[in-house]
Amino acid sequence: MPTITPQRSPDSARRVAAKPADARPVPSKLRVRRAAASDLDDLVALEQCSFSSDRLSRAQYRRHLDSDSALVLVASSGDRHCLGNAVLFFRKGSAVARLYSLATQPMARGQGVGAALLEAVAAAARRRGSHALRLEVRTDNAAAIALYEREGFRRIGRYVRYYQDGADAWRYEKSLD
Ligand SMILES: CC(C)(COP(=O)(O)OP(=O)(O)OC[C@H]1O[C@@H](n2cnc3c(N)ncnc32)[C@H](O)[C@@H]1OP(=O)(O)O)[C@@H](O)C(=O)NCCC(=O)NCCS
Repeated sequence: MPTITPQRSPDSARRVAAKPADARPVPSKLRVRRAAASDLDDLVALEQCSFSSDRLSRAQYRRHLDSDSALVLVASSGDRHCLGNAVLFFRKGSAVARLYSLATQPMARGQGVGAALLEAVAAAARRRGSHALRLEVRTDNAAAIALYEREGFRRIGRYVRYYQDGADAWRYEKSLD
């Protein structure tokens, strides 16, 4: 079985890429489902346009798709197969699931895709018996912080110089009870 690094290493960085201005409306019927091998191209492309460094590779995504301790979710609508994705990790014996990554296609941001993914992430973690969700986010990532706080995450700590470029991370947690 493939292994997953349960903790992002302290020197890894995922910097947020700039948001283009060509927003396109998301069709109303948004669906969140488990990602499949056929989503690999879309997942890698989304990773490329959402993060400027420390991207998950195609091989990592392939392993996560195949792993019991990871869950990759994709938001889709009609013929738009990958509007966003979330990567969730579980650890044996731990009641805390870790949201490792969340991203929405630049042209679909601000239309509820991230919130829908977070809702699905929480439901999936509950189904797996998790009692809490944790994540790290760059302290300068205002959009993600606003989304997490709106969705019930509370700040539980700070990792100083967590990212490669020296940026700090906030740690957030949401109770699933
Ligand atoms: C962070 C991210 C996933 C948000 O996804 P999204 O689909 O745009 O989020 P939603 O449309 O569901 O937004 C829901 C809430 O999040 C907050 N939010 C989202 N984008 C925001 C922005 N640019 N500025 C401020 N708040 C924002 C708001 O509270 C919003 O609620 P509102 O629309 O009622 O104001 C998206 O901006 C993204 O992919 N960024 C690049 C990758 C990234 O930084 N991922 C997080 C790594 S920890």
